[in-house]
Amino acid sequence: MCGIIGYVGEREVAPIIFSGLKKLEYRGYDSAGIATVHNGKICIKKDSGKIDDIHSRMNLKNLPGCLGLGHTRWATHGGVTRENAHPHTDCSGEIVLVHNGIIENFQELRKLLKNHDFESETDTEIIAHLIEEEMKRGNDFVEASKSALKKIVGHYATLIMSKNDKRIIAARRGSPLVIGVGDKEYFPASDIPAFIDYTKNVIYLQDHDFVVLDKKGPKFFSLLNGKEIKREVSTVDWDAEQARKGEFDHFMLKEIIEQTETIQKAINQSSDVIKEVAEDIKNAKGIFFVACGTASYACMTGSYVFSKIAKKHINVVSGSEFPHFEHFLTDRTLVIEVSQSGETADTLDAVKVARRKGSKVLSIVNVMGSSLTRNSDKCLLTQSGPEICVLSTKAYTAQIALLILLAYATAGKLEEGKKQLKELYNSVYDLTALSTREHLKKLGEKLKNKDHMFTIGRGLMYPTALEAALKLKEVSYIHTEGFAGGDLKHGTIALIEGGTPCIVFVSKDTENDIISNAMEIKSRGGYIIGVGSENNEIFDYFIKVPESDITNPITHIIPMQILAYQVALLRGCDPDKPRNLAKSVTVR
Ligand code: M6R
Repeated sequence: MCGIIGYVGEREVAPIIFSGLKKLEYRGYDSAGIATVHNGKICIKKDSGKIDDIHSRMNLKNLPGCLGLGHTRWATHGGVTRENAHPHTDCSGEIVLVHNGIIENFQELRKLLKNHDFESETDTEIIAHLIEEEMKRGNDFVEASKSALKKIVGHYATLIMSKNDKRIIAARRGSPLVIGVGDKEYFPASDIPAFIDYTKNVIYLQDHDFVVLDKKGPKFFSLLNGKEIKREVSTVDWDAEQARKGEFDHFMLKEIIEQTETIQKAINQSSDVIKEVAEDIKNAKGIFFVACGTASYACMTGSYVFSKIAKKHINVVSGSEFPHFEHFLTDRTLVIEVSQSGETADTLDAVKVARRKGSKVLSIVNVMGSSLTRNSDKCLLTQSGPEICVLSTKAYTAQIALLILLAYATAGKLEEGKKQLKELYNSVYDLTALSTREHLKKLGEKLKNKDHMFTIGRGLMYPTALEAALKLKEVSYIHTEGFAGGDLKHGTIALIEGGTPCIVFVSKDTENDIISNAMEIKSRGGYIIGVGSENNEIFDYFIKVPESDITNPITHIIPMQILAYQVALLRGCDPDKPRNLAKSVTVR
């Protein structure tokens, strides 16, 4: 959570940091701030609220100098107030910094720093005071920063400046940090979109890296042994245009529509690599899919697909629960981690659990160079391009597409899997067309004032029902619960009353049973919305999707993504930045 960006170079810094923060807003958007160093002075502007609102109050671009840093916050320690907004300084006003992560021993450290004046309730401010303390002992800015960071338990990506220095210190442990490499200018940041307008060349930092940056270039050190180290420059294969909204009002809609392309890109993997992973799956004794949120519903879908196509049992465990399964892991177990960002803390922790037991770790990730790509034995990239909207849409369908391919490859029928997925192109095109969007807007009008909704599905359509419920609730704030079709009658049906909407996912193989379940709801006054290939007299509203068997989880979810988007707009919610959420959940 939280996004940070810094800049050293020759340009005016504040507009660069401002535009970078706008691109990082998906990581957190409850407060923001920028600090620059100019003529031996630190200048700071910060406040609570969204960046644009803060900017309209205090012109964030109007800060002097060519050296600066900024932060967009998702609160963890301390409320959403100006005082808790980053950047933070020490007592003397010499050090200024921003931080993304959590300092676990901050209460302990705060007790040790009892003579210092703290302005905020954040864990971050501790770092500034620790550096101040080290400087009082005679250490220079760089050495003091190294010593301070070594005292921290927890994780961080941090950028630090001193009013008496023309350098930025960048360091990471557990939170993402990359450096954009320009011509005599450098952009340390949480994520590439922050600087993609300026450069496609990046250096991915690794845990315990400590970098001293000036416009002549970076110097890398390891905080583990203090030695100087080398880091390679790589070039990203997507451009600034992909990280822009373009003609769309919101990234959410842009990313939903992009699925025509992204699903095809996801399956455009080397057959050799897919077959290699399929061999790992065949040889493993015990397989786990591990992920969080939407990615975990992709995994659940994957487990049904593997059962049906490859006759393989796969355990699906949420990242945060995975440590409780440690006893089942051996050096023959295969752990497959799925994540859009590759930075989700709970998913990354699962890698550590797997490593402790000697299990092999494979990953399916969207963001190249992310922590998960670097910590896995093998990695398949979903290649969806940047997903900026906080809600996962195109990454989800790409994950499912890859899992379907893997299941077919495990069954020795990779080409058949590819064929099924290629055939999706036209369906996805139709499902995202304007006419479909208008049809779903009409439904949105009927749903926008509801307090509760339900979604049901059976078999492959069950995880789809769960994902549809998540999409609807996280962006429209209407309470929506997903259930296996047969489960509602075991209690929750008590909540159905006149007009309660229930979205029913119908596939050919589950049709009879799910329609019976829909009848049970209809008999109690429920408003039935059918999603399937054929209309039925019990449906009050019908959303037509093609019947595509194993790829139904893709075709049936797309209208739900659009519906969630429409309901959000009709209720005046921001689809790209829902309240209380952040794109990468880097806290436990
Ligand atoms: O980056 P990841 O795929 O690991 O993220 C996992 C979840 O945090 C994410 O899918 C979350 O549930 C989204 N809000 C879903 O739209």
